[in-house]
Amino acid sequence: MNIRIVENARELNTEVLVLGKFENENTSIDLVNRFVIEKDNFEGKLGQTYVIHTLGQMQADKILVVGLGKREEFNQNKMLQVVSKAVKKLNQIKAKRAAFDFGKEYGKSAIIGAMIADYAYDKYKSEKAHHLEEIYFSGISEGELNEGILFGEAMKFTRDLANTPAQIATPAKLAEIAQQIDGIETRIYDKPEIEQMGMGAYLAVGQGSANPPKFIHMKYYAQNPKKRIAIIGKGICFDSGGLDLKPASSMLTMKDDMSGAACVLGVMAAIAKLRPEVEVHGIIAACENMPSGSSYKPGDILTAKNGKTIEVDNTDAEGRLTLADALCYACDLGVDEVIDIATLTGACVVALGTITSGIMGNNKELISDLIQTADASGEKFWELPMFKEYFNSLKSDIADMKNTGARQGGAMAAGLFLKEFVTDSVKWAHIDIAGTAYLEKPQGEFIAGATGAGVRTLLNYIIK
Ligand code: BES
Ligand code: MN
Ligand code: ZN
Repeated sequence: MNIRIVENARELNTEVLVLGKFENENTSIDLVNRFVIEKDNFEGKLGQTYVIHTLGQMQADKILVVGLGKREEFNQNKMLQVVSKAVKKLNQIKAKRAAFDFGKEYGKSAIIGAMIADYAYDKYKSEKAHHLEEIYFSGISEGELNEGILFGEAMKFTRDLANTPAQIATPAKLAEIAQQIDGIETRIYDKPEIEQMGMGAYLAVGQGSANPPKFIHMKYYAQNPKKRIAIIGKGICFDSGGLDLKPASSMLTMKDDMSGAACVLGVMAAIAKLRPEVEVHGIIAACENMPSGSSYKPGDILTAKNGKTIEVDNTDAEGRLTLADALCYACDLGVDEVIDIATLTGACVVALGTITSGIMGNNKELISDLIQTADASGEKFWELPMFKEYFNSLKSDIADMKNTGARQGGAMAAGLFLKEFVTDSVKWAHIDIAGTAYLEKPQGEFIAGATGAGVRTLLNYIIK
């Protein structure tokens, strides 16, 4: 789908003209008002759509009217939603070209909404999805268009990667993708080097798999960086649970357990093009969690990079083990802020559902900054408490801690576990996207499958 700017969408000789209509208001076209509103009582509630044929009375063959809801409630997130609705409708009626006359505000959100809605994962389908060829917007600036497209492409990149079957998206594949990003310097550490770095927790998780682990460090350097940030993505390319094997129904979607990594890769690729004055490190401890004769076992004691010891209580709590070593590595870089993003706990899905990601950390300002940025980006983050009592169930008789404890409060316990591997002087936030990264059924502007959770928020946070 190409997106272009036109002077006047209304006068374009195109297949479909897309018009917005606020509730209890007329549109600027009489023909539409007479038929759609007066005759058919089209109200214009948020996301409602109505198609009319112009029968030669206008330049466009058809007009798609989209409800914008109440004028006073309209904002950038609603813009994203209504454009997304319109694009879905346009694809449904197999339109090829459409022009949007949606006003001058919220251009970036409009573009992102269009690109989210046009997404299909049909690489392995013989019959491909219908896509609009060209859409036009009037009133949008060149800058908004370019930024919107970069965000939209980053999300598509992340969604494609998280949707990719685990047979293809292996640790080596993630490493290869990282190395191919232009404008980013990437170092890959193989198993012997990971051993040398003392990453005993991460190594244990990967040791049962036929596909070796790859530790990925991407660097984006700025001339005069305002600050230095590391973003870490959980990169479990497949989570079978390990010897504490998951039941079939829970394992079904576990190719998505590298959604955090896919997010970091998408963000790094976009950062290289947006070129903000911020130093950004993208870190992924990629591996697979598999059961085999060489797997790590319940009861094993692991030593992380910072020397802390962990008794394995459950091999299915593997993400926090890989993140533990990645967090140590990131803190050792001497950055100001570390943000990790991970499909970490089923408990977070139970607590917040598939709508909201959980966020925790050691710095109020960073957390509230990220929550606000999420809100302005069309995503939802909600802070979960880091009361130290949640750590009680992780106490071990024979090591510094266990990797799991009580089932109750599991998202917070996982957060407190991670905190053990964060240097106190580094500002840190942890984002749990277990519920939001991958949908089993369509939701809002998203089809089932990967959503690109975190991409918009992290990008907006880094470039602001
Ligand atoms: N990758 C899962 C978490 C997850 C669950 C992601 C559902 C997406 C959807 C994680 O590695 C895991 O298995 N967590 C366990 C931890 C438990 C053993 C303490 C869980 O949440 O059940
Ligand atoms: Mn697991
Ligand atoms: Zn996992």
